[in-house]
Amino acid sequence: MSTAKKEYKKVTTKSLVEMKKHGEKISMLTAYDYTMAKIVDGAGIDVILVGDSASNVMAGHETTLPITLDQMIYHASSVIRAVDRALVVVDLPFGSYQSDPKEALRSAIRIMKESGGHAVKLEGGKEIKESIKRILNAGIPVMGHLGLTPQSIYKFGTYTVRAKEEEEAKKLISDAKMLEKLGCFALVLEKIPANLAQKVAESISIPVIGIGAGNGVDGQVLVLHDMIGMTHEFNPRFLRRYMNLYEDMTNAISQYVSDVKDISFPNESEQY
Ligand code: KIV
Repeated sequence: MSTAKKEYKKVTTKSLVEMKKHGEKISMLTAYDYTMAKIVDGAGIDVILVGDSASNVMAGHETTLPITLDQMIYHASSVIRAVDRALVVVDLPFGSYQSDPKEALRSAIRIMKESGGHAVKLEGGKEIKESIKRILNAGIPVMGHLGLTPQSIYKFGTYTVRAKEEEEAKKLISDAKMLEKLGCFALVLEKIPANLAQKVAESISIPVIGIGAGNGVDGQVLVLHDMIGMTHEFNPRFLRRYMNLYEDMTNAISQYVSDVKDISFPNESEQY
């Protein structure tokens, strides 16, 4: 394993596989709009995920289930307009791929055609094998997602750590190998024990990107609004907050309100 870091002018699915080979960790964050995506891309992120977490973060829904394909396309096309370097992966939302492989392909094609996204992400293993195959056969890169898959929250009942029991861990390993064999270019593992995630990363050649899956994997992903502290009610152990924007923005907005009320804004130099 070489530690030499190659510069990527544009990150592709191939670059990610190369990064894994060279032992370079992959950085991934979500973004759902132009302005945020411009900052995230400019800061040097490798992968931007237009996650269906937009359902929670942007629309205020309790789960990721309500967001529609049209809404995902809207978010993804806003992100694409901002991005020069990062690979942009777009979530196929709940209900757009589970019923049959033809519908899955139609949804993936709409994302690629109408948003300009570079790849799609689907949640699940063997249950959605035929859909993944069909999408890959059409030349659309697919990122897998195993472990805690939020679109199945009503089946799980809770957002706690997945695959702690041997049977579920075994299925996860076999699903990961299947996704690699089908031709997925990468895999997200969400909220599973770190030693299991490391075992998966070591047993497949495609990059494994973790969220709440420890540091033995090939890269990390977080929800942008959580890592910059714009959200403040969601506090899982795996989340590192790099800023406290909730507090900073609240202070700034309160200051603005008070400046308007006491007529200290605008001042002489802020008017014509
Ligand atoms: O939708 C999302 O933000 C995701 C990440 C949590 C991986 O799928």
